[in-house]
Amino acid sequence: MVHDGQSGARVVLLTGGAGFVGSHTAIELLERGDSVVVVDNCVNAVKGGDDKPVALQRVEELTGKTVKYHEASMLDCEALDNVFKQYKVDVVIHFAALKSVGESVDQPLRYYGNNITGTLNLLQAMSTAGVKRLVFSSSATVYGTPQYLPIDESHPTGQGITNPYGQTKFMCEQIMMDLARADPEWRVVLLRYFNPVGAHPSGRIGEDPRGIPNNLMPTIAQVAVERRPNLYVYGNDFETVDGTGVRDYVHVVDLARGHVAALSKLWSKESTGTLIYNLGTGQGISVLQMIEAFSRACGKKLAYKITSRRKGDVGTVVATCELAKKELGWVAERSLEDMCVDTWRWQSNNPNGFSI
Ligand SMILES: NC(=O)c1ccc[n+]([C@@H]2O[C@H](COP(=O)([O-])OP(=O)(O)OC[C@H]3O[C@@H](n4cnc5c(N)ncnc54)[C@H](O)[C@@H]3O)[C@@H](O)[C@H]2O)c1
Repeated sequence: MVHDGQSGARVVLLTGGAGFVGSHTAIELLERGDSVVVVDNCVNAVKGGDDKPVALQRVEELTGKTVKYHEASMLDCEALDNVFKQYKVDVVIHFAALKSVGESVDQPLRYYGNNITGTLNLLQAMSTAGVKRLVFSSSATVYGTPQYLPIDESHPTGQGITNPYGQTKFMCEQIMMDLARADPEWRVVLLRYFNPVGAHPSGRIGEDPRGIPNNLMPTIAQVAVERRPNLYVYGNDFETVDGTGVRDYVHVVDLARGHVAALSKLWSKESTGTLIYNLGTGQGISVLQMIEAFSRACGKKLAYKITSRRKGDVGTVVATCELAKKELGWVAERSLEDMCVDTWRWQSNNPNGFSI
């Protein structure tokens, strides 16, 4: 058995670590001195020359450190067991999931199979290996339609979730909470992300969605580099500052640092069972405000078309992140301008993302 942690350092397994949030988190962990092992099947990542995902090659280039990479699916139990046999893993951050809301409506079995079965397989492999510290990538989507604003962690979950993707996040949370209740040795942190955007300030890694982007920021960025022709704004008749949808956007580097803060919490005395934190800025930004801010960042006026609301969209979703501040000592520090400038640097340097 190999234990490749330095003294005081941890061996952190990132499932889905070749993705957008995972690769940024890998940088923060490596810079802190942790060892990083990634399991990813590249269903949403681009492979480089030596079959290592390009994002991870760039993480190595930026940090001067090595990422141990295993190409494997969360659906392959034997491969997962082997990873736990090969490394003395201290803690797992579980990013691996399919994440397209629209696709999940069309392909529910694929989404439930990948996200739920993949999670069950991971938890089983962790149990077998005796690794019982876990951070999970959850989402504001578990809150369904907000019953009050800003949303805190005690807001009801599981009601009014309109798509299978959101259901998988809710169900995975339930599974993890049941596990932590059944076995008090488990320490679980559920991080409910609001809207991650931005990119590493180097411009070397960032968000690279396959096909037509789902979310606003990558759509704006692809329109700005003229990779995509049209920018649609879905609905301008919500009860918001300018009628367009308001969301709580958080810079991916801040989000990545939230994971580092959560890991430290898993070793603190007061950490028992399941802890839950929202990660956002607590500030609402409308679609038009985002387009305006991005136009300033890229120095171009971006044309957009107003069209009708999408089914299930709500006017405003904003978090309060006071609990993360109090218990993790974490606050989002990066501004809307940082989010736009960093996204633009990434997208303009890499108009086709990680693909050459
Ligand atoms: N980006 C967002 O807007 C957002 C918001 C809330 C929650 N989340 C959650 O955060 C996590 C990370 O999101 P992201 O934006 O980095 O997504 P991403 O698609 O960039 O990264 C996910 C990674 O998981 C891998 N993966 C998927 N299924 C796998 C499987 N069966 N086996 C191995 N690897 C697999 C993909 O190849 C990809 O590299 C996901 O769980 C997502 O649901 C994301």
